[in-house]
Amino acid sequence: MLVTAEEMLKKAVAGKYAVGQFNINNLEWTKAVLLTAQECNSPVILGVSEGAGKYMTGFKTVADMVKAMIDELKITVPVALHLDHGTYDGCYKCIEAGFSSIMFDGSHYPIDENIAKTKELVAVCKEKGMSLEAEVGSIGGEEDGVVGMGECADPAECKQIADLGVTMLAAGIGNIHGKYPANWQGLSFETLAAIKELTGDMPLVLHGGTGIPADMIKKAISLGVGKINVNTECQLAFADATRKYIEAGKDLEGKGFDPRKLLAPGFEAIKATVKEKMELFGSVGKA
Ligand code: 13P
Repeated sequence: MLVTAEEMLKKAVAGKYAVGQFNINNLEWTKAVLLTAQECNSPVILGVSEGAGKYMTGFKTVADMVKAMIDELKITVPVALHLDHGTYDGCYKCIEAGFSSIMFDGSHYPIDENIAKTKELVAVCKEKGMSLEAEVGSIGGEEDGVVGMGECADPAECKQIADLGVTMLAAGIGNIHGKYPANWQGLSFETLAAIKELTGDMPLVLHGGTGIPADMIKKAISLGVGKINVNTECQLAFADATRKYIEAGKDLEGKGFDPRKLLAPGFEAIKATVKEKMELFGSVGKA
């Protein structure tokens, strides 16, 4: 069932668990995440970056594929289709394409401009019945060529953006996209607690879910994180399983070159990763 992220995240914050956002890249990815959510009876958010949207030929292709797949696979758990780190223009494209949720990442603008653009999108999303994620304090690492340094957001600015009526708020707390470097300082729970104190029940979003130790994930959830984004970890699992298949020479045996066989181990690896995360986040059985 395609829904916005609003209700599932409200329930998550109240129930002290988090809903996973898993970024999708193609048909196999989408099918793997949807089937795992159904098997785990868990709500789920499908994340689509602007780069992934372009790769899949456009946001309309993605929205139509996801809707058709929910129907054909008989997915009854709540599914939100969400633009990840959207630009201002990208947000409007996804509204048009039929997404149920968008993220406007205005973190690189001066705070006043971030506020003005977010405010405008709050009104549009309210009218269209969509959920909206905003961001304060850029998340470090590299994603689609955008590089941030992993700063900690200013809690007062977080409150200003939360008060605009967004559905959920991503705030930098030392988290970064991709693999964490060996000298990573860890999440700033001090910053997270200060943001929570000022933003109340607003579901907070933790980006860069790949490689954050389980105890830090649990602590972040206990401090108000209701949505956790995972991308790189599924990519690594897919690549690893595919490499093993090729290295074992399986593509050379019989019809092992058939893409439906070639991509199967990677598909199963994504499923296993998503299941593991849903268990860690506590969303299993919460659909
Ligand atoms: P990772 O690739 O580090 O898991 O981060 C995903 C993310 O935050 C998408 O917005």
